[in-house]
Amino acid sequence: MSLKRIGILTSGGDAPGMNAAIRAVVLAAHHHQIEVIGFYHGFNGLVCEEHIVMAESLTLLKVSGIIHLGGTLLRSARCQLMHEEKGLKLAAKTLNEHNIDALVVIGGDGSFSGLLALKHYWSGQMIGIPGTIDNDLDGTDYTIGFATAVNTGIEAIDKIRDTADAFERIFIVELMGRHSGHITFNVGIACAAEQVLSFENFSIEKQSETLQQLATEIAEAKAACHSSYIIVIAENLWPGGAIELAKQLHQHADIECTPCILGHIQRGGSPVAKDRILATKMGVAAVQALIDGKSHVMVAEQDNAMHLIALDEAIKHKKLVSKQLIDAQQNILALTAQTQC
Ligand code: F6P
Repeated sequence: MSLKRIGILTSGGDAPGMNAAIRAVVLAAHHHQIEVIGFYHGFNGLVCEEHIVMAESLTLLKVSGIIHLGGTLLRSARCQLMHEEKGLKLAAKTLNEHNIDALVVIGGDGSFSGLLALKHYWSGQMIGIPGTIDNDLDGTDYTIGFATAVNTGIEAIDKIRDTADAFERIFIVELMGRHSGHITFNVGIACAAEQVLSFENFSIEKQSETLQQLATEIAEAKAACHSSYIIVIAENLWPGGAIELAKQLHQHADIECTPCILGHIQRGGSPVAKDRILATKMGVAAVQALIDGKSHVMVAEQDNAMHLIALDEAIKHKKLVSKQLIDAQQNILALTAQTQC
């Protein structure tokens, strides 16, 4: 069967570079005389009532001038109906009505689970492009949006550092990442955070031990004249997050900390070069994979080369923060602690 029409949607938490990926898919498809239909609002664009127009043909004009834009031209959403048979049947019906031969989904693990569920109801080709700031998809070194989110986190914490230095304050900065510490560790290292608290180096059983250790190390750093002190912490790690940790440090050791939740600022902004280039390579590779008859796979990059990973393998959450990064943070922390004024 020849490939004539590709459907495309962006789903889940948006990530800077999604627009670059949409553009690459449209350009590569047009090069092969394949039409691309964009579905709006994630999988909701497939399961909406028929009278609402949530799909349109993506022309070259439509995707010009978007490579530098954050967010996503196609909008994004999480779609509860894709967890239900009714929704999956509706999605399959919409794809068939639009004569879609292949579906491209740019998103993260939840979006790919939706695709895997859809395969039992729709027989077209399907391919995932990893678009999430969390970098938590297996088989690819990086996901689209991660590099920008890390840069955004760094820029924000550099600014926090200025005011922390001025007031000799302790800050606890909470970073996104859902259940993975890729953003937290990378930002922490790049900002010379005095502490990085993440899933890889913290266990909930050791909560009180960690609290005691933090109190001791903060006291030592203050005694050694460190003017500011920044703790970066992964969201969903400490029960109650940065705010609760600040409260506990106060109650437990009379230490005043200022909590700061960076939040959705990390999802926005113009994608950095790395994300634009990764998105472009992945968009082109996705179209080529579909032309080659591939399906149920995710485009991935390993050591600068494009690969295809089975969708169900990509969502196993096995990709950990590299041990070198964790060790580097610990060694630097030990050296910083020895610095006296
Ligand atoms: O998956 C991307 C992400 O930004 C996570 O880092 C975060 O935990 C989650 O989405 C937030 O989702 P929402 O915007 O729906 O609150």
